[in-house]
Amino acid sequence: MNDLDQLVQDAQADFAQAHTPAELENAKARYLGKAGRVTELLKALGKFSPEEKKTRGAQINATKQQVEGALTARRQALAEAELEQQLKAEALDVTLPGRRRGEGAVHPIARTMERIEQIFASMGFDVADGPEIETDWYSFTALNNPENHPARSMQDTFYVDSKDAEGRWLNLRPHTSPMQIRYAQAHACKYAGQPTMPDIRVIAPGRTFRVDSDATHSPMFHQVEGLWVGENVSFKDLKALYLDFIQAFFETTDLKLRFRPSYFPFTEPSAEIDIMFESGPLTGRWLEVSGSGQVHPQVIRNMGLDPERSIGFAFGSGIDRLAMLRYGISDLRLFFDGDLRFLSQFK
Ligand code: DAH
Repeated sequence: MNDLDQLVQDAQADFAQAHTPAELENAKARYLGKAGRVTELLKALGKFSPEEKKTRGAQINATKQQVEGALTARRQALAEAELEQQLKAEALDVTLPGRRRGEGAVHPIARTMERIEQIFASMGFDVADGPEIETDWYSFTALNNPENHPARSMQDTFYVDSKDAEGRWLNLRPHTSPMQIRYAQAHACKYAGQPTMPDIRVIAPGRTFRVDSDATHSPMFHQVEGLWVGENVSFKDLKALYLDFIQAFFETTDLKLRFRPSYFPFTEPSAEIDIMFESGPLTGRWLEVSGSGQVHPQVIRNMGLDPERSIGFAFGSGIDRLAMLRYGISDLRLFFDGDLRFLSQFK
């Protein structure tokens, strides 16, 4: 092997040892740089005769080209290796399933409330919202349930150990009935001094609270209050309205309704409303769905109205109970446990 072949071989071996572009540049300098081996050979040409110069020069040029060829090949190999490395590092596994956003759903109780609101709105009723932390006056006194009256213990109320700004004791409302007073007060004043008598039609759905817990009672539950006060509103209007409502709610006319005498301090007379399905899985049993009655004159007065001129009815129904009947659920607690296996069935 002559010295030129040897040089090419050395260069190839040297370049193969370079594993980064910087290492390769250093190796290149050793052959093609100012003091590189190829450059030195070219400088040395001066010593040769013109004849020899020609052949030797051509040989060295060929050698130079081979070295440059080897350099280019190695450069390419390094670039490819680097790309390969990068692709591997940034690899996307396109077979991985995407991250889904959990699909939400309206809670069955919220859905039931919306349903009730829609039905009553379609019958000309306003929908009102009110405070869950109530005063003693709205929860009881205004509803003709005076302090120390035994009827106060009909409900095991959560009392709050503090008073509002006006010094009234607070409680977690045990029913939505305070909304009768709040709404009527806010709306009766609009009629003050006018010849027309108030016509108040409202439902007030919402959360209510009692010290109670078993399969059919929860310390937090939901009621919907209904109130219709006008000049000549009677029990027969209540019966017609409630029957329309309950039939729309259960999507069947195959049920009947009865009033059962009862007692509430804020109504006189008072009645429980029972329904019975005449077809379907619940057939043949009377099911209690609501309290109701003609609004007591004292309550009319507390609304800011004249009981000689305004008369009407009220009702208070358990929303959770209506939802249980509609969906065939036997344990109320399922609604509030937050178990997705249960809740996702209402999508
Ligand atoms: N507030 C009563 C309760 O929670 C239900 C009720 C009964 C509401 C009669 C009424 C009514 O408006 O007239 O037990």
